[in-house]
Amino acid sequence: MTSSPSLPLRAVGDTGLHVTELGFGAASLGNAGRAIADDVARDAVAAAWAAGIRYFDTAPFYGRGLSERRLGDALRGREDEALVLSSKVGRVLVPDASVGRGGEVDGFRSPMPFRVTHDYSRDGILRSFEASLHRLGLDRIDMLFVHDIGRWSRGDAHDEGWAQLTRGGGFEALASLREQGAIRAFGLGVNEVEICLEAIDAAPLDVLLLANRYTLLEQAPLDALFPACAARGIAVIAGAPYNSGILATGTRGSATPHYDYAPAPADIVARVRRIEAVADAWKVPLAAAALQFPLIHPCVVSVLPGIGDRRRLDQTLDLYAREIPAGFWTDLVSEGLIRADSLNAAAIEKAMP
Ligand SMILES: NC(=O)c1ccc[n+]([C@@H]2O[C@H](COP(=O)([O-])OP(=O)(O)OC[C@H]3O[C@@H](n4cnc5c(N)ncnc54)[C@H](OP(=O)(O)O)[C@@H]3O)[C@@H](O)[C@H]2O)c1
Repeated sequence: MTSSPSLPLRAVGDTGLHVTELGFGAASLGNAGRAIADDVARDAVAAAWAAGIRYFDTAPFYGRGLSERRLGDALRGREDEALVLSSKVGRVLVPDASVGRGGEVDGFRSPMPFRVTHDYSRDGILRSFEASLHRLGLDRIDMLFVHDIGRWSRGDAHDEGWAQLTRGGGFEALASLREQGAIRAFGLGVNEVEICLEAIDAAPLDVLLLANRYTLLEQAPLDALFPACAARGIAVIAGAPYNSGILATGTRGSATPHYDYAPAPADIVARVRRIEAVADAWKVPLAAAALQFPLIHPCVVSVLPGIGDRRRLDQTLDLYAREIPAGFWTDLVSEGLIRADSLNAAAIEKAMP
């Protein structure tokens, strides 16, 4: 299989892995929000590969195995050494004929016929890992993320999952997979800062996939999480840079803008409107700023937007390649729209007159 050069790579701590700055979020391949055809999914991955994307993220949860199947089918035979693949553990899929008959389950259209049981124990994690390899039809998964642990996702059920991870051998199973060389890195894949702070004290994590929480709208990780990651050499992958929609669509279209998987509340819409005004003044597309913003921080090794078809891929590549003047970022700071400590010194200096 011919191989194109990869996009720029960043090191995942000291794991020896390097991920492309721009990753491919494959929840979309599990029909997240909208159904896509198999050939559309395959074409999107092939085009991403041709464009130099070498980091792909999936999970058993995404279409109840559908995303893993499609991603594996599209990647098989492309295994060059720069390929980095992540999937997740914490949910075990159980056959259930009542699921997926044309309907939508947990935001996924026509998922495969499985229901989800949460299981963060040693046994659950090992079973999930094996099943993922089989669905992918690939000989390796490089990074495993503990999926949606934490109160933000699990509410009161969190404590049981946390006990399975910490006292039930879940984290130990991940560490031993890494020791055996079955995976190269592990961490959490979550939408919550607090659980990341707890987990980095509980287990020797390599990497965090933090979705929706480090964006143009949210920078809480700068307080404690990023400093802790920097001190321990833990890499961060910034998932969902558009806060699940509004930072890509903006506020001016006819469709209701979405934030955090729901229609955006009025205060978020008002804030995005202010960001749009600064973006207009600098002729910067809002979505380009949203996509590139997380990569300014040295802890962030990859940004992971959802990509479900070739058109979205082409748009994403264009947004990634846009030159954004440093003055745009410093204007956002002066307007109180992003935090000053989200910009590194080089970006600020470049903006000085
Ligand atoms: N717990 C976790 O580990 C976790 C949680 C969330 C996400 N993630 C990872 O992050 C990836 C991305 O997450 P996400 O898809 O929820 O968030 P996202 O990329 O922030 O937002 C996706 C939404 O934005 C829209 N969009 C994207 N690009 C656009 C553009 N150029 N113009 C207009 N609309 C655009 C998409 O529409 P279309 O669908 O029409 O393209 C979709 O509705 C996932 O695939 C997954 O790999 C991980």
